[in-house]
Amino acid sequence: MSKIGIFFGTDTGSTRLVAKKIHSLLGDELADKPKNINRCQPAELLAYDALILGTPSYGVGDLPGLSAGCQEASWAEFVPYLDNLDFRGKKIALFGLGHQERYASRFASSLIRLYHVFYATGADIVGRWSTEGYQFEHSDSIIDGKFVGLVLDQRGQPHLTEERVKTWLTQVMPLLLPSTYQVAAA
Ligand SMILES: Cc1cc2nc3c(=O)[nH]c(=O)nc-3n(C[C@H](O)[C@H](O)[C@H](O)COP(=O)(O)O)c2cc1C
Repeated sequence: MSKIGIFFGTDTGSTRLVAKKIHSLLGDELADKPKNINRCQPAELLAYDALILGTPSYGVGDLPGLSAGCQEASWAEFVPYLDNLDFRGKKIALFGLGHQERYASRFASSLIRLYHVFYATGADIVGRWSTEGYQFEHSDSIIDGKFVGLVLDQRGQPHLTEERVKTWLTQVMPLLLPSTYQVAAA
């Protein structure tokens, strides 16, 4: 059975922690161990039919990486390598971390950058998430009134993370691995 690949970018470790939480909730049967995108080649992502990808926001609602003032290379340096790659037929669910109080005018805005990059590869992006329960002025990561992926605030609302992750996984898993869920429901 094919598993889900989990990849993340991070600067101070919160997105890694959430990626690990997602992996532990899914278990080794359904997902491989999360990998930091700064140690990956595009081929490693292409090996999966279903992916969960996580990013924090840095700079001015930007993807993390040297260009956004982070300590290490990350998504910002990785995404140019995705140009001309074909992710058609693959399902991708996104999650993003931000800090709504401090960065209220651009809350979790890097998520839309990841969305556009993978949308352009032909991937099917699933897992939109309601904006209810957050307080911010603006986020670029909203389409048709919903975040383009799960949004988490480990600085301002860490106590809500586990429940949000669990609820989101119940919504996205049947979309990411439909065959598994058809078998389970049979
Ligand atoms: C310099 C800097 C810039 C940031 N810019 C944003 C931003 O534009 N939007 C946002 O929602 N959060 C922003 N944040 C908050 C981080 O995204 C948040 O703290 C996140 O949890 C960090 O994840 P990490 O520990 O995986 O690096 C910024 C934080 C720093 C230190």
